Amino acid sequence: MRKLILFLGTCAALVAGISWADVGISTDLMQSIEDTNKSLSSNISLNDVKASTADANELTDMFAQVETFFVQKGDAPDAVDLAKKSKELTMDIVNYMAAKNYEAATNAATTVSRNCRTCHTFYKKE
Ligand code: HEC
Repeated sequence: MRKLILFLGTCAALVAGISWADVGISTDLMQSIEDTNKSLSSNISLNDVKASTADANELTDMFAQVETFFVQKGDAPDAVDLAKKSKELTMDIVNYMAAKNYEAATNAATTVSRNCRTCHTFYKKE
C-alpha cells in the first residue's frame, strides 16, 4: 500500500511537472517581475516618482500577462485573483507616486511582494 501511494505520488508529480513544462508560465517573465519589483521598491524609497512610475507600469503589464496565463490555464482561481490584485496595486502605486503619497505607495508595494509569496506557495512547484 505504501509503495502504491509513493508510486501514485511520483506520477502526480511527473504529471504536474509535464503540465508546467507544456503551458508553464515563463520563468523569464518571472525573473523580469522579480527585477522590476526590486527596482520599484528602491525607487519608491528614494521618492523617485519618474522611475517608480516606469517600474509600476511595467509590472502592471507583466501581471496582466500572468493573469491571462492563469485564466487560460484554468482551474486556478486564486492565482488569477492574486495576479489581478497585484496588477491593480501597481496601478494604484502610479497614482500614489503622482500624488507624492509615498507611504501609501510603500504599503501597496509591500502587499505586492506578499502576493508573490502567496502565489508561489500554492502554484510554484519546487
Ligand atoms: C499569480 C501567481 C504568481 C504571482 C503573483 C507571482 N508569481 Fe512568481 N512564479 C509563479 C509560478 C507559477 C512560478 C513557477 C514557474 C515555473 O517554474 O514553471 C513562479 C516563479 C518565479 C520565479 C522563479 C523563476 C525561475 O527562473 O525559475 C521568480 C524569481 C518569481 N516567480 C518572482 C516573483 C516575484 C518577485 C513576484 C511578485 C512581485 C511574483 N513572482 C509573483 C507564480 C506567480
